[in-house]
Amino acid sequence: MRIRNLGHACWHIDLGKTKLLIDPFISGNPLASNIDIDSIECDYILVTHGHEDHVADVVRIAQRTNATVVSNFEIVNWFQKQGLSKLHPMNIGGSWNFDFGKLTYFTAQHSSVMPDGSPGGNPGSFIIQSDHGNFYHAGDTGLMMDMKIIPMLVKLDFALLPIGDNFTMGINEAIIASQWIECNNIIAMHYDTFGYIVVDQQKAKSEFQNNGINLTFIEIGESINI
Ligand code: NI
Ligand code: MN
Repeated sequence: MRIRNLGHACWHIDLGKTKLLIDPFISGNPLASNIDIDSIECDYILVTHGHEDHVADVVRIAQRTNATVVSNFEIVNWFQKQGLSKLHPMNIGGSWNFDFGKLTYFTAQHSSVMPDGSPGGNPGSFIIQSDHGNFYHAGDTGLMMDMKIIPMLVKLDFALLPIGDNFTMGINEAIIASQWIECNNIIAMHYDTFGYIVVDQQKAKSEFQNNGINLTFIEIGESINI
């Protein structure tokens, strides 16, 4: 699969026939000004939780692409009120077999409210099992014991983990999380966007390396094949 960093916690995942977009926050992200929102193609938009820095461009992209929005029940209902109609509601711990593979809406230790103050349900994360590989997008979360469940469910090929600290896990917690999810191939997210979450990338990489874990930073707009 080909994964492209669109900034912050937003990723474009190309699974060949199907393209996923996770947590679109591009127009409000000055670091992502090189991304052309209106050329992004996707079949599904996955939303971990209701915060502005994860949902800002969902309606704009869903209206143009006719993508199906997948999130928790409350968030999906909120997007219905914003005029979207292709929606798939889930809730914590549930899985569904989509045409691209099996998706589990898993826990996250965080909060969730929509940009207008409406309830955003419980925050979540995504575990995706596909013919092209298995991965975990942790959403916004602190280190949590639930992560120990993940290797009982799936053998991950890689994981997207927040490392920016303050609002989510920092580097030390993300190293422990990598051990708990039994994954040595970590891609960093949720760093540098705001003043609170600026990260020293070289230091982060070497601290992960000291624990035998490969931490990858992908420049915004760049892609890698996994
Ligand atoms: Ni958040
Ligand atoms: Mn966030």
